[in-house]
Amino acid sequence: MDSDRSSPSRLKPPRYEPVLRLPPLSDDELQGLRDSISIHGVLVPILVDCDGPVRRIIDGNYRKQFADEFGYTCPEIIQEGLDEEEMRTLARALNLARRHLNTTQRRELIAEQLRETPDRANRWVAKQLGVHHATVASVRLGLESSGQIIHCPNRLGSDGRIQPARKTVAPVFLGAEDRQRRMEATTLIHGDCREELPKLPAASVDAVITDPIYPEIEREYGRISEPEWHDLMHAVVQECRRVLKPQGSALFILQPNYEHVGQMRLWLWEFLVWAAKEWNLVQDVYSWTTDALPLTGTRRTQGLLRQSVKTCVWLGPKDCYRNQENVLRTPSEKTSNRPFSDNEVRPGIGKWPCRNGPMATAAAERGGTTPFNLLPISNNGARGDHPATTPYRLAAWWCRYLLPDGGVLLDPFAGGGTILAAGLDCGASRVLGIERVEKYVEMAWERIG
Ligand SMILES: C[S@@+](CC[C@H](N)C(=O)[O-])C[C@H]1O[C@@H](n2cnc3c(N)ncnc32)[C@H](O)[C@@H]1O
Repeated sequence: MDSDRSSPSRLKPPRYEPVLRLPPLSDDELQGLRDSISIHGVLVPILVDCDGPVRRIIDGNYRKQFADEFGYTCPEIIQEGLDEEEMRTLARALNLARRHLNTTQRRELIAEQLRETPDRANRWVAKQLGVHHATVASVRLGLESSGQIIHCPNRLGSDGRIQPARKTVAPVFLGAEDRQRRMEATTLIHGDCREELPKLPAASVDAVITDPIYPEIEREYGRISEPEWHDLMHAVVQECRRVLKPQGSALFILQPNYEHVGQMRLWLWEFLVWAAKEWNLVQDVYSWTTDALPLTGTRRTQGLLRQSVKTCVWLGPKDCYRNQENVLRTPSEKTSNRPFSDNEVRPGIGKWPCRNGPMATAAAERGGTTPFNLLPISNNGARGDHPATTPYRLAAWWCRYLLPDGGVLLDPFAGGGTILAAGLDCGASRVLGIERVEKYVEMAWERIG
């Protein structure tokens, strides 16, 4: 008798662990797979890392789960010799190639890979995962602009050579048809918004997103005093409120400035309080320019801190339209790797009790975690043709959040058209801009088409 065969250790079945926690299948897909396995068994072998007592499943978690449920044998192929990182990359690649993932889920997998290997070139990541490098670049941009990965100035390419990463956002070359469509969806008015806004029909706009002129700043487009600025903005706010649909809201991006170094001007807060009382401040939101340069006040002799926070004054009704789904953050690896089944109450952040399982499940079900009201957005990639360009990523973040799909966007201080272009990129059916300086209107047309 072969005593070894009957020993408990030989009889003990191997334990299986997933290499990655992938986006869940839809109910329909799960049911389809389950039905198929119940009838045919597992036809496509699962991929595991070894034939030992603990096997990591690189591909086929659900197949294994259903095979076990029906008591079927699950065929396995062993892929040896991969380290942890290579196994995870392969798992993502196989899932991207085979599963019916929606865009958000596909981008989530690419984001995970970028968080794991931020220093690898976009083309390397694209090749590993079998996706287009432009998609990788766009996911990277989102992660960098929300502070989830840092911008790596040098990246390791497929050839093993370190290459400098592009400093600017790669231009997207639109086809003639797309350009035509975007231009037809755009109205650009050359004029003073105080005169032009009253000509727009009431309740015709879904969102106003704008980066206006600031007082007491010397710019090519002029300098206005604080009282002049308040007069202008009071009129603009009232008009924006009139042209917005009942659930629409308005967003004014404002950056404070000094009267003298060490003495701030108060216009921003005076405006904020006035507007909040006059209308309603939906929430206080700030954007943090993560790569703001140190300016005069930060010299050693002055000793002030770097100015890097803009206030995003968000005005509208309490229940105004917003789409949190569109701005969820990709969960951190720590959150993603929490086991779904772990229900134990543990001390969490700041000693607040938390349960790992529900936290991971909530993040996986929603497809992300809630953003903070401080948006970490770098200036990297800003276009320098207008003297005070709004960072595109900030503009696009607000468009994704406030503009319903197919909605109408208004920017009464349109400048070189960054916010309007972002609106079109984010699914606006119409964008409307007003700009006082003619050459910026030209710039905006160029930007849009
Ligand atoms: C901060 S810039 C906007 C930048 C723009 N978002 C971009 O990224 O190109 C403000 C713009 O408001 C314009 N402006 C100032 N006063 C105006 C007014 N009363 N009506 C319309 N435009 C005005 C300026 O000419 C300037 O181009």
